[in-house]
Amino acid sequence: AKIDMARFARFCKDMGFIYQSSEIYGGINGFWDYGPLGVELKRNIKEAWWHDMVRHPPVGPDGRDLRMVGLDCAIIMNPRVWEASGHVAGFSDLMVDCKECKGRFRADQIQDIPCPLKPSLMVGKYEKCQLTEPRAFNLMFQTYVGAVQSPENVAYLRPETAQGIFVNFKNVLDSSRLKLPFGIAQIGKAFRNEINPRNYTFRSREFEQMEIEFFCHPKDSMMWYEYWREVRKQWYVRLGLTSDKLRAREQSREELAHYSCGTTDIEYLFPFADEPQELEGVAHRGDFDLKAHAQHSGKDLSYFDEDGWNALLAERLAPFQQDKPRREEEKKRLEREEKPKFQFLPHVIEPSAGVDRFLLAVLCEAYTEDQVPDAKGNLESRTVMRFHPRLAPIKAAVFPLVNKDGMDEIAYKLYRELKAHFPVVYDHSGAIGRRYRRQDEAGTPFCITIDGETLQNSSVTIRDRDTLRQIRINLSEVRSWLADALRP
Ligand code: GAP
Repeated sequence: AKIDMARFARFCKDMGFIYQSSEIYGGINGFWDYGPLGVELKRNIKEAWWHDMVRHPPVGPDGRDLRMVGLDCAIIMNPRVWEASGHVAGFSDLMVDCKECKGRFRADQIQDIPCPLKPSLMVGKYEKCQLTEPRAFNLMFQTYVGAVQSPENVAYLRPETAQGIFVNFKNVLDSSRLKLPFGIAQIGKAFRNEINPRNYTFRSREFEQMEIEFFCHPKDSMMWYEYWREVRKQWYVRLGLTSDKLRAREQSREELAHYSCGTTDIEYLFPFADEPQELEGVAHRGDFDLKAHAQHSGKDLSYFDEDGWNALLAERLAPFQQDKPRREEEKKRLEREEKPKFQFLPHVIEPSAGVDRFLLAVLCEAYTEDQVPDAKGNLESRTVMRFHPRLAPIKAAVFPLVNKDGMDEIAYKLYRELKAHFPVVYDHSGAIGRRYRRQDEAGTPFCITIDGETLQNSSVTIRDRDTLRQIRINLSEVRSWLADALRP
């Protein structure tokens, strides 16, 4: 079912998930802030990705865990990076201006944007519209480094985290002695001066990316491309995006970015759109980036496959074990003719995801309105955020049924004990039904209540947010029960 996006955005603000940036000054288009619940959700997303992709990487086609390491690069880099990567020359969208309303629009979106002078019509359809010819507009934000604002001091806020990984490829290789295939991962902010930021946080001007550059032997690159498409799609399913709203779509030749020889978009059907929209791109970048940086920097960024070379030497020299001169002669020939083949630029598969886009998809997917029985058995409407427990900002709430007979003391003690291990809240105010509703809206998967029976036999109830089922377990088992329920 479609969600009313305006109502949904209001809910997200009221609950403390997302606020407009600088709202008291009228906001600023394309920038967003995350509130107390939003920031926890965002951290949980990034931690789930880092946990599942870097610390406990997926199993490769050979049944062994992938080799994955992380990186955290500066946002501002030497501007030559962006010349080499092609962003200075080519990272642009086509833009049109309207001479009448002075508006600026992305050329491929004017059919979706209401005319500022006559909002019932789309841009260009109102007879007074005077649109210019489309022209290229570079999306990189510029700044100056140092005191002098001169052309030679221009620098850019990175439009993707990927380039920090490519320019550090040799550093990582030398310092960690990794062998192909391996991946380097990074989470961080990226900035794009989007012409028309829209659809809530979907297209923002400041956002966060979670990117992997997976370096492999060129001959294995198609295998890794297919592998990563599947691994990444399944990751979203595991974290609660139902598979019928998710799809992997291979881009057509015309859509491909300048660096890519094949890209699959993992797309999600957001409630504001008729077609699924990109959550993540899994791109086969070939050796485009390493080659470009090697050329522009003059540095050798190639990889030497030492194991492959040693294996070849051992095999080819084996027949000459007893004949040292022939052996040396053969070795020299191999070094001349065969060794260069073991020195090459790795190919790269890049799964590149947007933190904010996934977070928006998680919010949309979780947002549900249903009816539940109240204390008297009558049905009442509730809004419930059905987050996957790993992503839920608050994992459990602890309630005393009433604030007397020592129930509140037991509840508070339990809350203190759990708080050392999980994000939990304590709530003792208002009717229990209202307290459940508050936690449903925050997406808290479990509510633990201390009641009269606790005083008699030390058992507590745990209520499940989605099924509303309640189980009773012993007070002393709550912590381990919760740890099990939240395990990745
Ligand atoms: N390094 C490759 C790269 O940056 P991209 O498809 O331009 O590829 C990757 O971006 C991901 O970053 C997208 O799939 C999306 O999730 C996120 N992203 C890109 N532009 C965005 C924007 N303006 N607002 C929010 N997220 C964005």
